[in-house]
Amino acid sequence: MRLDKFLSNMGKATRSESSRLARSGKILVNGSIVKKADIHIDPEKDTVVVNGINVLYKKYAYIMLNKPEGYVSATDDVREKTVLDLLGDEERRLGLFPCGRLDKNTLGLVILTNDGDSAHKCLSPKHHVDKIYKFECKLPLTDENVASLEKGVDIGGYFTKPCKIKLYDSTSGEITLTEGKYHQIKRMLEAVDNKITYLERLSFGGIVLDSNLERGKWRYLNENEEALFVNGGKSE
Ligand code: URA
Repeated sequence: MRLDKFLSNMGKATRSESSRLARSGKILVNGSIVKKADIHIDPEKDTVVVNGINVLYKKYAYIMLNKPEGYVSATDDVREKTVLDLLGDEERRLGLFPCGRLDKNTLGLVILTNDGDSAHKCLSPKHHVDKIYKFECKLPLTDENVASLEKGVDIGGYFTKPCKIKLYDSTSGEITLTEGKYHQIKRMLEAVDNKITYLERLSFGGIVLDSNLERGKWRYLNENEEALFVNGGKSE
């Protein structure tokens, strides 16, 4: 891999910044200064140091974000703020994208990655990855409402798959889905003549939103979470 591509993939410098750093003698490969950034390196074997700091090679990045209201789950948008705007400069250079979408006013867990295969696996309906949401709704839910939501409701030409509901009280609780249709929970509640007033994703494929992560903040997934994610949201 070219050195400048490696540094850009690791979020350390853009291609032109890499050339500048190399020209000014700030990059060492295996202990020797390299003056050009277009040389080829083996990221698995070579040691790269930039400005005195060792650049560790990681093929992919996996980030957990606690999404606040008002951000869209997209990589760019002409009018709206996107979840990528909440990341740091280095992370914004990694080519990350949100794994699945939360509505602009939905809060909570969003996983961002540049690992397309694993993201695809986690999102594929075949894999039935559990997504748990905390919800509040306008009107009390009856036992019949809960039974029909759990069995599946018509959300406009599509019949939802069975899901699980755990009520905290008659107007709030947790809902576990294994699929993710557009505005699914909002449309499900509309199908039983109700309305969602609060929605927050608490977990995705066994990866639980870190309670120490403030709204709008993010962190890298730890090893266990990363393993869950690359295994399609299931433990080995
Ligand atoms: N269902 C919705 O209606 N909105 C979301 O953001 C997620 C699930």
